[in-house]
Amino acid sequence: MNQSPKAPWWQSAVIYQIYPRSFADSNDDGVGDLNGIRARLPYLADLGVDAIWLSPIYVSPMADLGYDISDHTAIDPLFGTMADFDALLETAHARGLRLVLDFVPNHTSIEHRWFRESRASRRDPKRDWYIWRDPAPDGGPPNNWLSEFGGSAWAYDQASGQYYYHAFLAQQPDLNWRNRDVRAAMHDVMRFWLAKGVDGLRVDVLWHLMKDDQFRDDPVNPDFRDSDPPYKRLLHTSSADRPEVRNVVRELRQVVDEFSHRVLIGELYLPLERVVAYYGDRLDGAHLPFNFSLIETAWRAKDIAALIRHYEGLLPQGAWPNWVLGNHDRPRIASRVGEAQARLAATLLLTLRGTPTLYYGDEIGLPQVEIAAGEVRDPWEKNVPGFGLGRDGCRTPMQWDTTVQAGFSTSEPWLPLSKDATARNVAEQQRDEGSLLHLYRRLFALRRAHPALATGACREIAAMGSLLSYRRTDSGDGDFLVVLNLGDAAGTLEWPAGTTGDVVLRACSRAAGERLTGRIELGRNDGVVIKLTKKPPEMA
Ligand code: NOJ
Repeated sequence: MNQSPKAPWWQSAVIYQIYPRSFADSNDDGVGDLNGIRARLPYLADLGVDAIWLSPIYVSPMADLGYDISDHTAIDPLFGTMADFDALLETAHARGLRLVLDFVPNHTSIEHRWFRESRASRRDPKRDWYIWRDPAPDGGPPNNWLSEFGGSAWAYDQASGQYYYHAFLAQQPDLNWRNRDVRAAMHDVMRFWLAKGVDGLRVDVLWHLMKDDQFRDDPVNPDFRDSDPPYKRLLHTSSADRPEVRNVVRELRQVVDEFSHRVLIGELYLPLERVVAYYGDRLDGAHLPFNFSLIETAWRAKDIAALIRHYEGLLPQGAWPNWVLGNHDRPRIASRVGEAQARLAATLLLTLRGTPTLYYGDEIGLPQVEIAAGEVRDPWEKNVPGFGLGRDGCRTPMQWDTTVQAGFSTSEPWLPLSKDATARNVAEQQRDEGSLLHLYRRLFALRRAHPALATGACREIAAMGSLLSYRRTDSGDGDFLVVLNLGDAAGTLEWPAGTTGDVVLRACSRAAGERLTGRIELGRNDGVVIKLTKKPPEMA
């Protein structure tokens, strides 16, 4: 499917996720902030991304590092002030960058005024804004639902003699989205930011918003293994991903549609068959239900080819795909696939059909940083240790240059830098034309220059040994063949006789322009993007 020239901006955009604590610290307290981000906008504009998405910047006691919000329409002083936010938005727009904010509707902080009121008494008008239940007959939790962050999802409130539900930390009580006043209040939060001019919202844990109104137990997971975290003991079919959530999503979309040119993105850790349901029956749900399958699929040509075909096949008519390689919750791509393959990962992300989301620091190959036991900040790791769930290692400071603390801050940063920070930083990679950073820049530029690569059709997805290949086509822009060697042995791809093409990008070197005929020989860890110049009729 080719895209019309009137297609919305977010279809051809590259989104860059910033974890605000870790991007740039302007006031030297060791934690990143809004003014720090603003000062780095020239870098992002020059790099060639189109939109930035900020993880939460709102007032929070920081039990879950900002995903526990106590005031949705104010900026946490750790990050700055509302004036700083307004300046950031204005400067981003002036530089042609869009700004997307995190929106966390499933839960609030335990310190939110709404929860304080709700907890105050069973008769409080806000009681029903959260999910309160009587104890089970034995005095225990009302049902077997588990918290993703460890233990029962029910916390007992001594004073009122009832339990409240929390899908994450006990400090993050879930809002009751069956209550119309809750919906209205949260819609107003959305309007507050959209009216300020933010270009979209990324909705946290979208699939959690509705729970079974009968509060039936979640069934036991027959595939549970002892090495799995305890949350996996159950299948969460009663506590999450309920059919009723569709209406809620549709309403979120309606609020976004009150404003023009905004995007609604949904976080969804679900099988792809379920993810695509969040586009909505009439494409009236999320514009981009996040597709995290590249993060979760084995790094092998045949698995990734199968994944692309599967996803493309599942997409409802007219739905726009998207791809994500990393985020603040999952291990860094450079450590997962290795430094050499990180170049192929970049080429893959930026030549697939659909909106790519890139995680800050991945453009310089930031690794997963090891965190000493006593320095863990992530509540998930603290509550459920030993399963490798900790997220601190992918949230470490951006490494800018060779000055103190890699240019992130002049104080000790809240999380450590990577061991190779003096070599691995933006300044060093800017000097080196062969660096990963320069590869990303070339890929962004190539995608901009060629609609075929950004929005063209994706066809002939194939795997041969360690080679993954696919064709991107656009009637106005021509044909491109992408061949990626996801292995560490050389590989050869034979072409139909009579085919010729010019290499427009090579993943492992700066060489381009070379003319290829008949076959493509790829060294280990190499990849090419080829503009086809002559095709036999069968390659129409
Ligand atoms: C998903 C967010 O991405 C994650 O960082 C957070 O801990 C949970 N939601 C709870 O809000």
